Amino acid sequence: MTAPVRSDHTVVQVALGARSYDIVIGRGVLNTLGARIAALRPGAKTFIVTDANVAGHHLASTEAALAAAAIACDRMIVPPGEASKSFQYFAQVCEAIIASRIERGDLVVALGGGVIGDLAGFAAAVVRRGIDYVQVPTTLLAQVDSSVGGKTAIDSAHGKNLVGAFHQPILVLADTALLDSLPAREFRAGYAEVAKYGLIGDEAFFAWLEANWRDIFAAAGAAGGNARDHAVAVSCRAKAAIVARDERETGDRQLLNLGHTFGHALEAACGFSDRLLHGEAIAIGMALALQFSVARQGLMTRQEADRAIRHLAAVGLPTAISQIPGPPLPLEQLMELIGQDKKIKRGRLTFILARGIGSAFIESGIDRNEVRAFLSDKLAER
Ligand SMILES: NC(=O)c1ccc[n+]([C@@H]2O[C@H](COP(=O)([O-])OP(=O)(O)OC[C@H]3O[C@@H](n4cnc5c(N)ncnc54)[C@H](O)[C@@H]3O)[C@@H](O)[C@H]2O)c1
Ligand SMILES: [Zn+2]
Repeated sequence: MTAPVRSDHTVVQVALGARSYDIVIGRGVLNTLGARIAALRPGAKTFIVTDANVAGHHLASTEAALAAAAIACDRMIVPPGEASKSFQYFAQVCEAIIASRIERGDLVVALGGGVIGDLAGFAAAVVRRGIDYVQVPTTLLAQVDSSVGGKTAIDSAHGKNLVGAFHQPILVLADTALLDSLPAREFRAGYAEVAKYGLIGDEAFFAWLEANWRDIFAAAGAAGGNARDHAVAVSCRAKAAIVARDERETGDRQLLNLGHTFGHALEAACGFSDRLLHGEAIAIGMALALQFSVARQGLMTRQEADRAIRHLAAVGLPTAISQIPGPPLPLEQLMELIGQDKKIKRGRLTFILARGIGSAFIESGIDRNEVRAFLSDKLAER
């Protein structure tokens, strides 16, 4: 076997029995893509799915990494943006994969952010009743969240991610140097998910982020590189552990939804547009979930919630509904959206709340009226 070895990368395993796989993290690991695929699936052909932005920056180096191991590849480039997670592009991607004679035993390579990972992963889940795929995440959000755990989906006219499948990749290659070309706003939005892992279950990591976030954001250079790699590795380790315990989100995996019930409602009310990116919505959503925890029988101290919110604000993320640009969001619309959330059970709402930084828990019996009263106060803060 040609085991590509570099001293400065980290490997995190997602332990799922026969479906286990490695997440390889580090600057420059994209160069090892071909060698790793050759080792995992000797003789496999590949089909790259990417978007136009990512193709402009990183398609040539990805193809070169495959060519270096004499791996054949075809490609399809879709437009950037959430609109590509549609039935239309899903059909086009499936047809293109089939047309390029990719068979069972061959591989799809998802080269891009969460949109590409979800779209290409879902196509891989269903073409020929399932072929293997590799995630090469190119956004911070995708490196720490969407590329890991096997959730794949496209959007329905009724809502986001409503048509999909669980389909685990066979390898995740997170080259942190690819993030150098990511727009600052996208990087910052992805950072909300990094902070989330600290808030959910790792106070020491959160404290480390408070001290080191500037190095994570710094483009290149030794210090920046190391801090960024560390942040991605710790995040992936946290997600891998949760996914290994609860692959299908029947229990613990719900913790990853901290800030997501409020966040999704805000995102949806803004039409999933540039007005509010997912990570920005999650930053506000986490601030709200922590404040709601404080308001609820004083689960968390106000000082601790303030400390968490201060950090999100320090990196430039929004932390209050009043920071969302544009017309005010109506309370009843938000309540309606929260009610549609999949985390609802028999009229009672489920939220991820916290007893402190690093101690999140699942609370499932929350009364809608309590949420309405809380949100109404928050909307009044203008
Ligand atoms: N499957 C999961 O578990 C999971 C988890 C979280 C989010 N998601 C999904 O992920 C999607 C959001 O992902 P995202 O935030 O990565 O968005 P995205 O894929 O749309 O990427 C954001 C933008 O950055 C551009 N881009 C990507 N990489 C780049 C690079 N290296 N250099 C320059 N530009 C680059 C893209 O073209 C796009 O314009 C949503 O559809 C969401 O539902 C899935
Ligand atoms: Zn998220």
